[in-house]
Parts: sequence; structure tokens; C-alpha cells
Amino acid sequence: MTDTPPAHPVLADLDWPLRTAHLALRPARPEDAAAIWPWYGREDVQEYTTTRPGDLAAMQEWWDEPSRLASTVVAERDGVIVATGMIKVQDAWGQSDVVEQARGTLAELGWTVDPGRQGEGIGTELAAALLDVAIDGLGIRRVVAECFAVNTASRRVMEKIGMRLEAVHREDSLHRSGHWMDGATYAILASERAAGERMTGSDETASHQETR
Ligand SMILES: CC(C)(COP(=O)(O)OP(=O)(O)OC[C@H]1O[C@@H](n2cnc3c(N)ncnc32)[C@H](O)[C@@H]1OP(=O)(O)O)[C@@H](O)C(=O)NCCC(=O)NCCS
Repeated sequence: MTDTPPAHPVLADLDWPLRTAHLALRPARPEDAAAIWPWYGREDVQEYTTTRPGDLAAMQEWWDEPSRLASTVVAERDGVIVATGMIKVQDAWGQSDVVEQARGTLAELGWTVDPGRQGEGIGTELAAALLDVAIDGLGIRRVVAECFAVNTASRRVMEKIGMRLEAVHREDSLHRSGHWMDGATYAILASERAAGERMTGSDETASHQETR
């Protein structure tokens, strides 16, 4: 008899919107692509991201991929989308005799904030909420985030939500400029986070807002 691992919840199974101190998060919808395109399509916004769609049509096609919609949330402030977030659930590595138990236990986070709203604490507040969703909502045991090592803003977000720097990989990442650049990997385990402070809606997040 084979043990069937329990089915993991997906984003669509959770209660939405998720409200944080200043944001309302909900799963992405196809029509969001056109709404965010004016800022999301900017070259400076996509300088260190994986994909820079060339025009709205390409953006729409990319956004509409079922796996992308299923792993993307948008964050609204006063009814306007100010940020996007990613929670991509993956299989952790495991030895073949136990690998079924490793499926769906890992999640990678990502984030993008409207450049007109950067530096207000939105990225940190969103990222903290994504971490909460991944661990509390989806039951993920290990959460990772990766970036070009030069992406100081994203690294600060990772650090501020309690993720640990696990590695800086020497020239492992090819930038579209043609340069091989260092990549940074941050992570946090659910068990580590349980021992720390939850940030969503916490005083720390709120006071961060007040000081900016
Ligand atoms: C990374 C990003 C999401 C941060 O969003 P944000 O709303 O500006 O972040 P916050 O306001 O919460 O600030 C987080 C920290 O980053 C710092 N920061 C923000 N912009 C920065 C910049 N351009 N350079 C250096 N640090 C920066 C802030 O000062 C803050 O750190 P501090 O509290 O020590 O001062 C945003 O810069 C962005 O969308 N970048 C483009 C997309 C991207 O690179 N995504 C990540 C790909 S891995």
C-alpha cells in the first residue's frame, strides 16, 4: 500500500482579501495585468526581476499563464494595486523513498512595488503577509527568496521579515545586460518563524510606516 500525502491547500482555497495594516491582498486576476502595466512594465522596475514583458500584449500573455495566476497575489491600497507578490509552491528535494513527503513543502516568494509607492514600507508589509500566507495558510515548512545580490532593496525586505541569508552564489545569475552577477538566497523555516515575531499588522510594521 502506498501512502498518499495529504493534499496541500492552494491560494484559491484561502479566505480573501487578506487585510494587513495598510494593504488588502487578493489572488491575481487577468484584468490586473492592464491595470498595473503602466508601472509594472517600466524597465527600472524589472531591472532585477526574471521577466520583463516588452509590451502589454506580452505582459497579458505572461500574466495569464495558469501557473502564474495561481501563484500571484496583488496588494491594493485604497482600491489601487500598489504591489504584486508571488508565492510559488515547489517540491523540496528528498531521497527517492521519501520524496513524496517532500512534495509541496517549499515556497519561493517574490515582490514588486509600484515605483511611485516604493520606500513607504509597502514591500516589507506585503512580504510579511506573503510569509504568513505561505506558512499559516498553505502549511509550507521552508520559505525561500532569491535575488541578484546587488538588489539591496529586496534584500532589506527579506531581512526585515526575518529571513536568513543562506548563500551568496558567485556569478551564478546572468543579467540581461550580459553580465554574470552574484545571486543571494534567503530562507526561513516555519519552525524558526514560530519562534520569532509575526509581523503582519504588528507594531513593528506599523512603526516602520510612521518613520518613513
Ligand atoms: C524590492 C521592493 C519590492 C521594495 O519595496 P519597497 O516598498 O520600496 O520596500 P520598503 O519601503 O518596505 O523598504 C524596505 C527596505 O528597502 C530599502 N530600500 C528601498 N528602496 C531602496 C533602494 N532603491 N536602494 C536601497 N534600499 C532601498 C528601504 O530603505 C528599507 O530598508 P530600511 O528599513 O533599512 O531603510 C521594490 O524596491 C521593488 O519593487 N523593486 C523592483 C522589483 C524587484 O526588484 N523585486 C524583487 C526582485 S528579487
